[in-house]
Amino acid sequence: MAPKINHGEGRTRSSLSLIVVISLCCFFYVLGAWQRSGFGKGDNIALQITKQTECTDMPNLNFDTHHSGLGSLSNLGDSETKTFEPCDDRYTDYTPCQDQNRAMTYPRDNMIYRERHCPPDEEKLYCLIPAPKGYVAPFPWPKSRDYVPYANVPYKSLTVEKAVQNWVHYEGNVFRFPGGGTQFPQGADKYIDQLASVIPIDNGTVRTALDTGCGVASWGAYLFKKNVLAMSFAPRDSHEAQVQFALERGVPAVIGVLGSIKLPYPSRAFDMAHCSRCLIPWGANDGVYMMEVDRVLRPGGYWVLSGPPINWKVNYQVWKRTKEDIEEEQRKIEEIAELLCWEKIYEKAEFAIWRKRINAESCTQRQDEIGVNICETTNSDDVWYKKMEPCINQYPEVGNPEEFAGGEPKPFPQRLNAVPPRISSGSVPGFSVKSYHEDNRLWQKHVKTYKKINDLLDTGRYRNIMDMNAHLGSFAAAIESPKLWVMNVVPTIAEISTLGVIYERGLIGIYHDWCEAFSTYPRTYDLIHANGVFSLYQNKCKMEDILLEMDRILRPEGAVIFRDEVDVLMKVKKMVIGMRWNTKLLDHEDGPLVPEKILVAVKQYWVGGSKNEEQ
Ligand SMILES: *[C@@H]1O[C@H](CO)[C@@H](O)[C@H](O)[C@H]1NC(C)=O
Repeated sequence: MAPKINHGEGRTRSSLSLIVVISLCCFFYVLGAWQRSGFGKGDNIALQITKQTECTDMPNLNFDTHHSGLGSLSNLGDSETKTFEPCDDRYTDYTPCQDQNRAMTYPRDNMIYRERHCPPDEEKLYCLIPAPKGYVAPFPWPKSRDYVPYANVPYKSLTVEKAVQNWVHYEGNVFRFPGGGTQFPQGADKYIDQLASVIPIDNGTVRTALDTGCGVASWGAYLFKKNVLAMSFAPRDSHEAQVQFALERGVPAVIGVLGSIKLPYPSRAFDMAHCSRCLIPWGANDGVYMMEVDRVLRPGGYWVLSGPPINWKVNYQVWKRTKEDIEEEQRKIEEIAELLCWEKIYEKAEFAIWRKRINAESCTQRQDEIGVNICETTNSDDVWYKKMEPCINQYPEVGNPEEFAGGEPKPFPQRLNAVPPRISSGSVPGFSVKSYHEDNRLWQKHVKTYKKINDLLDTGRYRNIMDMNAHLGSFAAAIESPKLWVMNVVPTIAEISTLGVIYERGLIGIYHDWCEAFSTYPRTYDLIHANGVFSLYQNKCKMEDILLEMDRILRPEGAVIFRDEVDVLMKVKKMVIGMRWNTKLLDHEDGPLVPEKILVAVKQYWVGGSKNEEQ
């Protein structure tokens, strides 16, 4: 993949370095003044939350475990508790599987060096990632969409590098996001309204979206207004913390790249995919990138492409491309779209929109076409560390030409609790319509309990929520609210194919193996739900591998809800005390004799710097 240079950036480098120097001077001045005056605006919130998350008001619950045959807590002497030390301050933004030094040992072609490369056991850090000095709780949504405390992501490279492109401004002790972006000169709202004039974004038909190469995820941030949930991804570059900004803003995003490995999403998942100047070479490598988008788009889903090469006739000079070169790029994209049998439904000014056909019947030329390579795989959801191939995934069969292959999901919000097509068709082994309804009822009950345990659950205090072992997504469905979103993780070792069901419910999620680091920055989740995670991973990797990773991705003062067998939870409890977490063990809602229990934990507030370690 030839790296493309954004127009105009190279020439302004030297004057930009001057700006960097000046702004650094200002920065140190401001930082000094600011430190003298105490914390930023988020501090009030942080203080309030410290007080409120003490979990003191649980009138109906007994904090002690009554399960017989177990040692009481006092038996766990301090001598047995292992204490984890803070890592060096230079690891403040450490992302183990997207580490710059390790990346550089991998080939640059096809962006392979930006893909996941996790450290082997002997290179894992067994220490706690420190927050930067002055770290504060983020602003509540929707203010967080527009403002991020500078102390939390103290890097100004984006404000300088993307200054021309109007992504983000630095103003005193906060970053301000104007909702613009290279491709949204009139703002993201206007842009989305334009899309909504072609794509049914307004009536719940389109609910889930994939933003490839998302920048600071302004598109996803503004789609919340339309009740559309976007999964955004961008690579970790050497110095641009785009995805970190997105998550600080309270917008779902992961570190990711379209390189040589399949995307960690199931087939036929997203209602819409989007690329705005995302620098993915769609026409290259026999169309393998578009074929991957085709795999994850549901039948009838939309693909939006804006920026180069669209509208090249007007812009090729601005983009510093030759007419021939960019015309050829567009020609290739059109050719692959045709091969995929996508229907072009719109092209005007800066963007083009294609629609994936609803079934194979609506595409007669494809089957006969010579040179169309159909994927041989029997399981198109088996994607974890699997290489992308230049082949097309087949549609599920349909009974008549009007039918959506694989079934048509209901509009949102009915989708959330309706029986998902994959369940009603019986295509998810181990699950039935009956067990789906039971699962839903069970999680409604559990979430009700969680809200009693922590009465801040519903208030917007927790916006970025991680469900580490999501099954059918029923936890996320039960807790659903416009104030929060849930990243539903289906562990690869669980060997269940429920992630497609989660998308059919209008929720988002990702495949992951918890023996490795998640594709995110430190401190990006406010609340983590770990149901059955440690039973699942018993004898798969060390418990501390998983717990330290949870500590890395959890914000200071963030909360964790574990639900597991009591003996597993006792081990967890012992270990997290050595990680500066406060914990409380609670009985199952059906009483103390049920071996499954709940452990709630709150990560203490502490930041890097050797003087602060005692805090
Ligand atoms: C939503 O809008 C689209 C396009 O206008 C239409 O085809 C579809 O039937 C609508 N769906 C609902 C549920 O109203």
